[in-house]
Amino acid sequence: MSLQLEKSQTLTNLMRAFAGESMAQMRYILAADEAQKQKFAAIARVFRFTAEQEKQHAKVFGGFLSDFPGMSIDIAAGFPADNTCDMQQLLDLAANDEDAEAGTVYPSFARIARDEGFTDIADKFAMIGAIEDTHRKRFAYYAELMRSGKLLRSDITEERWICLNCGHIHTGSEPPEVCPVCGVDHGWSIREAEADMTFANML
Ligand SMILES: [Fe+2]
Ligand SMILES: [Fe+2]
Repeated sequence: MSLQLEKSQTLTNLMRAFAGESMAQMRYILAADEAQKQKFAAIARVFRFTAEQEKQHAKVFGGFLSDFPGMSIDIAAGFPADNTCDMQQLLDLAANDEDAEAGTVYPSFARIARDEGFTDIADKFAMIGAIEDTHRKRFAYYAELMRSGKLLRSDITEERWICLNCGHIHTGSEPPEVCPVCGVDHGWSIREAEADMTFANML
């Protein structure tokens, strides 16, 4: 199989995917740093959470390339230059990039891999494309909250907000400006149902 893969378009696509995932991870790490700097700690968490997943995607594609140590694979592709300091723009662009991956790039890589007879690789492109769609939804969700001024304001008066630093829960339409337990600013607050492993809907 490795000789066949060596001559395929899928090999190039694997390298493009590896490059794309690697850059996505770095873009999100940088976006997280920027968010943290601008006191959007919860948004920083969203970017870091997603960055870690991009790293794992790179690992999956990199695994298929491990049969070709020392080989240099040329790729020609466009990659997004989204290194802005504008948080609204960072979220919008991230949602856009994920949309391109989920809607166009990975479905086409999957189709080509299937045509070339690499079913297992085609499945990975398709499954990772589906994950990118969840990234798109998540970034679009926070982009919309930010645009509408609802990142830290809810229409629900009994909204439950969790401080991601200490876990303090506050009930109200807005989180407290300063956490009464640990003293961090409200940028650390997020709707409880959106926090990792809070099991908010089960408790
Ligand atoms: Fe990814
Ligand atoms: Fe993604």
